[in-house]
Amino acid sequence: VEKQSELYSGKAKTVYKTDDPARLILHFRDDTSAFDGQKIEQFSRKGEINNKFNAFIMEKLAAAGIPTHFERLLSAQESLVKHLEMFPVECVVRNISTGSLCRRLGVQEGLDLEPPVFEFFLKNDALHDPMINEYHICTFGWASMEQVERMKEYTFKINDILKSLFLGAGLLLVDYKLEFGDYQGQVVLGDEFTLDGCRLWDVETREKLDKDRFRQGLGGVVEAYEEVARRLGTPL
Ligand code: C5P
Repeated sequence: VEKQSELYSGKAKTVYKTDDPARLILHFRDDTSAFDGQKIEQFSRKGEINNKFNAFIMEKLAAAGIPTHFERLLSAQESLVKHLEMFPVECVVRNISTGSLCRRLGVQEGLDLEPPVFEFFLKNDALHDPMINEYHICTFGWASMEQVERMKEYTFKINDILKSLFLGAGLLLVDYKLEFGDYQGQVVLGDEFTLDGCRLWDVETREKLDKDRFRQGLGGVVEAYEEVARRLGTPL
């Protein structure tokens, strides 16, 4: 495939069209952002680590029967993916309480959540990604009820797959965010699964090994991402 013009540039990735209208190229940049883009920093090697980590996880999910947009790595910071029609919603699952859940509901940090909590958010920076439910999604036409059900089904199935994958590497999957889209009438996992969009804690020490190191100014961001990749055996 041949890379063509830029389609969209997000906070950490740039998306390019290709000569095949059904394929896009994702470029994982070294940028890391938090708080609706108010805090931005570049970390050398982060784009490459995220690109390779995402490829590793997407391949695990595909092998477990989840339809994903991922096709193949193209270079250190680029991957080829299917061109989805993205739903403007974020699907979040929480296994342990932290982050915005604790701020919104005043619940204690670090509680085991059983059953896990599922939340939808609207992707809208100007509105600060408000929480929504399935009725908002259907009523405003962001996705159909059938597509909503499929997103929930895949998001929970991914929880089972990844909780055990990470636990095998001594890591607790605290929470994560996924985005889906439509590809030829099917609901397919899009966007990325990286340490920018999930929380992972060391199972023994509960040390944070994810983007919270950046959000909270703890330092050692790239070192933490490399440590997770090393524990999982992700080729970097
Ligand atoms: O901030 P909050 O606690 O709602 O985040 C829940 C999970 O979703 C975290 O793993 C966070 O990294 C991820 N998330 C994300 N992008 C957003 C909001 C949350 O990746 N815009």
